[in-house]
Amino acid sequence: MTVNRRILLVRRPHGMPMADDFAIVEGPVPEPAEGEMLIRTLYLSVDPYMRGRMNDARSYVPPFALNEVVEGGVIGQVVASRHTAYRAGDIVVGTLGWADYNLSDGRGLRRLDPSAAPITAALGVLGMPGLTAYVGTLDIGRVQTGETFVVSAAAGAVGSVAGQIAKIHGCRVVGIAGSDEKCRWVTEELGFDAAVNYRAAGSLVAALREACPNGVDVYFDNVGGDVTDAVLPLLNDFARIALCGQIALYNLEKPDMGPRNWSYLLIHRATLQGFIVRDHAHRAGQAYADLARWIQEGRIRWREHIVEGLENTIDAFLGLFRGDNIGKQLVKVADPA
Ligand SMILES: NC(=O)c1ccc[n+]([C@@H]2O[C@H](COP(=O)([O-])OP(=O)(O)OC[C@H]3O[C@@H](n4cnc5c(N)ncnc54)[C@H](OP(=O)(O)O)[C@@H]3O)[C@@H](O)[C@H]2O)c1
Repeated sequence: MTVNRRILLVRRPHGMPMADDFAIVEGPVPEPAEGEMLIRTLYLSVDPYMRGRMNDARSYVPPFALNEVVEGGVIGQVVASRHTAYRAGDIVVGTLGWADYNLSDGRGLRRLDPSAAPITAALGVLGMPGLTAYVGTLDIGRVQTGETFVVSAAAGAVGSVAGQIAKIHGCRVVGIAGSDEKCRWVTEELGFDAAVNYRAAGSLVAALREACPNGVDVYFDNVGGDVTDAVLPLLNDFARIALCGQIALYNLEKPDMGPRNWSYLLIHRATLQGFIVRDHAHRAGQAYADLARWIQEGRIRWREHIVEGLENTIDAFLGLFRGDNIGKQLVKVADPA
């Protein structure tokens, strides 16, 4: 390939992002300078947090610059190297541009061993979402045997792994997801004890009450909004909420009202802790070792929702907000050489 396509953010979205907020531009494939390598994108990750970076707002990461390439998790193959530590053919993962090709000086990259695990796992269960699930369930949620653990966006990259980790630690695990197919997947294949389709449940509180006869000890919140409002009345005394994501709010044009039912946190002396995975990088070694072992033992399963073609990246990203994905949403850009 001699053309490099790059996806730029050209306008800050208001509400749900639109295709016109981005542009796909073509240019020549760049040449690595001394100390650099040229990496061909094989898979790229679209992640809900990237929506926040499209706003011009203070957050835990700086906003994407306008008219610059959008950056996210990428698995790529080194095609030319002037870097002493990497050779052509190496498969790497790191934060790179939504593009066919990227240059890198190696900072923030990790070499993958394709014989150890399917390479795509490095963007999912053995990557950032897996670490998020691990830290949120064990360090923030502090799950204990016999407790009831509820997770929203249960069939997504983070939620599906979080629920399985809680199950391994002896919890009753209840998922909340947006379709019957997702609910079937988490109960029949992942071993959750129950799942509630929040789009189909008449009263979500009533459906959750039935699924959680002993109340809720740990709530792993990926979505916020109405779903979380329905969980709070079920909290037990000294419950923990691991506040991981608020995807239901990311595209709101005005700040949302509520939650108004915080008195449940007071009554039940609950702890709500927001957390960002990058603050927990020191846990990565243990987390990936445990996750790899649980996968090998057949106690953790995962699934990927793969869209083909760099040109379909924006639609794949928007699909996260429509709930298109079961498991980790990825875009396949090229096959390894
Ligand atoms: N704190 C951290 O460091 C950290 C790290 C990674 C991810 N996160 C957060 O964790 C959450 C999950 O991320 P992920 O990568 O695993 O994504 P994901 O769950 O694989 O995909 C997003 C899912 O969210 C659900 N969703 C979308 N809009 C919704 C709405 N309005 N109400 C309820 N559910 C909605 C959809 O599933 P349904 O069909 O079930 O609606 C969709 O499939 C996100 O909020 C993300 O920002 C946080």
